[in-house]
Amino acid sequence: MSQLNFLITAGPTQEPIDPVRYLSNYSSGKMGYALARAARIKGHRVILISGPTALSKPKGVKSIDVITAREMYSAVMKNYRKADIIIKVAAVADYRPQNVSKSKIKKTKKNLNLKLVCNPDILKELGKKKRKNQVLVGFAAETSGGFKNAFKKLKEKNCDWIVLNQVGKKGTGFGSDFNKVILLARNGMGLGLKKGRKTDLASKIINIIIGLYPLLKS
Ligand code: PMT
Repeated sequence: MSQLNFLITAGPTQEPIDPVRYLSNYSSGKMGYALARAARIKGHRVILISGPTALSKPKGVKSIDVITAREMYSAVMKNYRKADIIIKVAAVADYRPQNVSKSKIKKTKKNLNLKLVCNPDILKELGKKKRKNQVLVGFAAETSGGFKNAFKKLKEKNCDWIVLNQVGKKGTGFGSDFNKVILLARNGMGLGLKKGRKTDLASKIINIIIGLYPLLKS
């Protein structure tokens, strides 16, 4: 297989509330970084767009750091065109505070209401813009109704693959070194991968996606 261009997103986004607080999630970036490293080790070109993480960057990978979902959106839109395979592992915040306070919010009232507004759905936008020969892989982090929700995301966001990650259980998913995922293809095919280190699973996922790239790229 010739050298392919990968675009991979990883980590959480942080949505500021005031200068000292933000909304975010428990993504560590481990799954996305492992995929970027695995694709690079197999000889492919990789752009990694990452939210804030404590991880060191995989060698040989072009990395772009972002903080918010809107920054991730801009970075992805600048870089998606050349990608043959796009993998959206990042746990993007669906909502952000409508107003960001310029100064630290003081504790003056018993209750505080934060008004949230929707962030752009990066994967859905990529699904609309997808060009011929481009394979789009989404992730679906689900605590319940996994298959139903994952297939819905696969269809609505026009993905070629969705990687179902049943989260909320100890020892896999967010933050862990381990994971357990099921790859679902647009044609209904499902491939379950046993619980393993994210580094090992990443290598398997990249092999599967590259192996089926010629079939799915149209
Ligand atoms: O980072 P780790 O600690 O290693 O954890 C890995 C992981 C659990 C974060 C990862 O395996 C995972 O499941 N990633 C998807 C997280 C997620 O936010 O899933 P979702 O079901 O909410 O989103 C579905 C898809 O839409 C994802 O590909 C997401 O990147 C994308 N999305 C979501 C919202 C948004 N505004 N824009 C998006 O592009």
